[in-house]
Amino acid sequence: MDKNTQEIVERIKKLKKKKRAIILVHNYQRPEVFKVADRIGDSLELCRFAKTTKAEIILFCGVNFMAESAKIINPQKKVLVPYLDAGCAMADMVDRPALLKFRNKFPGAAIVTYVNSTADVKAVSDVLCTSANAVNIVKALPNKQIIFVPDKNLANFVSARVPEKEIIPWDGYCPIHNVIDRDYFEEIKIKYPDAKILAHPESVNEILEIADAIKSTSGMIEFSREDPARDYFVFTECGMLDRLRNEVPGKNFYGVCNLCFDMKKNTLNSILRCLEQERHEVLLDKMVIDSARKSFNLMFELT
Ligand code: 13P
Ligand code: SF4
Repeated sequence: MDKNTQEIVERIKKLKKKKRAIILVHNYQRPEVFKVADRIGDSLELCRFAKTTKAEIILFCGVNFMAESAKIINPQKKVLVPYLDAGCAMADMVDRPALLKFRNKFPGAAIVTYVNSTADVKAVSDVLCTSANAVNIVKALPNKQIIFVPDKNLANFVSARVPEKEIIPWDGYCPIHNVIDRDYFEEIKIKYPDAKILAHPESVNEILEIADAIKSTSGMIEFSREDPARDYFVFTECGMLDRLRNEVPGKNFYGVCNLCFDMKKNTLNSILRCLEQERHEVLLDKMVIDSARKSFNLMFELT
């Protein structure tokens, strides 16, 4: 770490203490951001941590829906984001009026919504899920018909594991996971014929069908720690490679990945300014928070 970076890291750490703040960091963030994290994790881990923290301020380094989730779970806390405009393209593929209209067609169905969604959509859902618990949530519900929003690939992954239920997918997807660089993949497959395939469930079906393990971002770390293989092709956002290489030394991870630019917007400088000025507070309508929290609470109860 160069001297300037070290200085910024120290200033952020001091401010955290002074203001009783914690910094929650998603696995896809820039590696320098990990240096100031109180917790690095996948969506489920970060939601759980946000639920139990005693801190007064939660500074969230991820994309907007993640910070909104922390606010919904913990409405009495101040939730800050370093950069206001870090969106998620998949979350924007469904809105509340369209979802309510769709639900009318399936009166007996439960709406299971992936946390990668807006607070408004969460508020009209029956229960939320993350990539780590989607299968268990769908299994635990009494409904036979499930409207699964917004990721069609995650819906497809769940459907294959819960065949006794009818999964009605929303036609959304993550633009980062919904494409693969086939030429590059073919090229490295020849070079590393024994490498296993690790995929995020947001990936296209073609990849999910050949994957050795389909895991949430933190699930990938856990899996590769335990698994005997040495080499892995990783199908998810490229930032995961930094986490895997750090957390699972001695193994090789080859990224067949794309960058989520929204996930890269936060920098140490913007985190410092955010904490100093307590700016970019996440504010949501109280009615939205109350309804969305019910859907979160059911998720926590079911898993
Ligand atoms: P995880 O919950 O698995 O970290 O996934 C979040 C995400 O946005 C993946 O694109
Ligand atoms: Fe959203 Fe995809 Fe970025 Fe995850 S990787 S935050 S799903 S756009």
